[in-house]
Amino acid sequence: MPRTREHTDFGFRRVPLEHKQALVDDVFHSVARRYDLMNDLMSGGLHRAWKDALVTAVNPPPARRAQQPKASAQPFALLDLAGGTGDIAFRMLEGAASGTRATVVDINADMLAVGRARAAARGLDDAITFVEGNAEALPFPDRSYDAVTIAFGIRNVPRIAAALGEAYRVLRIGGRFHCLEFSTVDVPGLAALYDFYSFNVIPALGRAVTEDADAYRYLVESIRRFPRPDAFAEMMRAAGFARVSFQRMSGGIVALHSGWRL
Ligand SMILES: C[S@@+](CC[C@H](N)C(=O)[O-])C[C@H]1O[C@@H](n2cnc3c(N)ncnc32)[C@H](O)[C@@H]1O
Repeated sequence: MPRTREHTDFGFRRVPLEHKQALVDDVFHSVARRYDLMNDLMSGGLHRAWKDALVTAVNPPPARRAQQPKASAQPFALLDLAGGTGDIAFRMLEGAASGTRATVVDINADMLAVGRARAAARGLDDAITFVEGNAEALPFPDRSYDAVTIAFGIRNVPRIAAALGEAYRVLRIGGRFHCLEFSTVDVPGLAALYDFYSFNVIPALGRAVTEDADAYRYLVESIRRFPRPDAFAEMMRAAGFARVSFQRMSGGIVALHSGWRL
């Protein structure tokens, strides 16, 4: 008997599970150079506020003006999954205590190359390590990070449960995982407007800026296929996270999920 192949969503298409990663990789190879510009254009700069909310939730130890950190204190270590061009890591390190370290993992070498160049331009290359790797199988020891984040990345990962399990594994006991992701707009007037904008304006903008409308069609379709926040919270609990919570922002356009490793 032939084995039934497992399928998953790639935007609105059903594809064999093992094909999804290559399709996702093509999207980000294609848009890497203009990725950050497109984020500003598509969201009217709002993605900056959403990312700042994520950094506030992580709450990395702030730089001290008068005192130096105690010599014995372990520096705070952040792991940013699917970290792409480094945006979350840069925001996290801004104003953080000296010694704070960020590791950015992404499966896409082109996104990481943009991130490394941005880090060098900001003089942050000593504080950030860029690692090419898969969120589903992290090359790090158990319990090695104080916080793990993923922003607008999890819906691109084919095996979400595996990535959540890995985030849990590498967190220290008492560490917290935060996931910022597009979500479900439930405000009636806004939902219609948001759909119109998503399906008409965003692919056209993508074509004009990156010459790749399909990449941005995938973006809007993949958002529609991502689980609702209560269902995603349940997936986090299944991975072992405790005190799971989420906060909707901007009428539900995005949600910020958090859970502890206790
Ligand atoms: C929408 S971008 C988000 C980038 C960044 N976190 C941000 O907020 O600007 C999604 C990223 O997920 C990465 N990605 C997709 N699948 C991945 C996987 N299995 N493991 C690690 N990164 C992955 C892509 O290469 C891409 O850089």
